Amino acid sequence: MSLTMKLLDAWKRVLGLSRLESGESVVVLVAEHSHPDHVAAAKAAATLLGTRSVVLELGESSAAALRMAGETTGVTGVTALTGNTAAIAAMKACDFVIDLMGIDRGSEQQEILAAGTRILLVKEPPEIFIRLVPTPEDRERVLAAAGKLRKAKTMHVTSAAGTDFEVALGEYQLLIQYGLADEPGRWDHAPSTFVAAWPNEGSANGTVVLAPGTTLLPIKEYLRTPVRLEIEAGYITRIEGEFDALYLRDYMGKFGDREGYAVSHLGWGLQPKAHWTALGMYDKRQTNAMEARSFAGNFMFSTGPNTEGGGTRNPACHLDVPMIGCSVSLDGEPVVVEGKLVQAIARG
Ligand SMILES: [Fe+2]
Repeated sequence: MSLTMKLLDAWKRVLGLSRLESGESVVVLVAEHSHPDHVAAAKAAATLLGTRSVVLELGESSAAALRMAGETTGVTGVTALTGNTAAIAAMKACDFVIDLMGIDRGSEQQEILAAGTRILLVKEPPEIFIRLVPTPEDRERVLAAAGKLRKAKTMHVTSAAGTDFEVALGEYQLLIQYGLADEPGRWDHAPSTFVAAWPNEGSANGTVVLAPGTTLLPIKEYLRTPVRLEIEAGYITRIEGEFDALYLRDYMGKFGDREGYAVSHLGWGLQPKAHWTALGMYDKRQTNAMEARSFAGNFMFSTGPNTEGGGTRNPACHLDVPMIGCSVSLDGEPVVVEGKLVQAIARG
């Protein structure tokens, strides 16, 4: 089968599993940087499913000052959608948005979802999208893990490298990603397979050691030297180590915002088809690194905003940091042991 046919097939599966039905209305949201093969395949799949679709192309926005290399995931803030009332109204009025632009997950997105619109974001290139195309089994595995996370009062993380870190849970909503926007008002990202929770205010305490092999996002690099993060009352207070610590201190410091050092969503990857090593195979501009966030058994540490979980913290600096070799337990019950999912979690 040609790549074009595989891509069309993957889109039909994702939209079908997202319960997109004949007669529903679809906005395909695109920008200058949207992958043309995705635009063509998404439009074709939406047509084949019998929907009424419209392509909405927004102009480029004035990017946030620290958004480098065209990277849209690392810095939150103003986008082409900010204040674009006509575009927002169109998306509120439709059933489903195929987001090939990357709406900032801020107030415009919340407003569109509140109208009942489903939104499915796709930023990975066709090859990764096809290889990791979401399945019903992924959905079941993620929802089972989310059920455990929702009941947990504490999360404790350790590693042989020296991590010993605990947070309290329950104050905020969960981040549940299985790559399908299959309920009214649901946002998801395909491919993506993980669960996470934002810690209660001020509850994160301990030490996180980013061992060599940790992925640093949005920089899209594997750390080569250990970085020791001291965390007190919800914030990183010290970053120690060699080159990688120097880099991290400088990158975060340039934002000049203490809130960027807050501990953000914490969770683990649930995708057996995803590989820790994959990021090393792509050019940085080719991938959004969802494979790094999703590979089974990673513990994803993160920093910065918590607005998506229902909080008020919204600094521009946001890091996702998938780690290898960690053990994660919820209220004393292991879910990941030394970087591997426990059987019950892997089965879903
Ligand atoms: Fe994140």
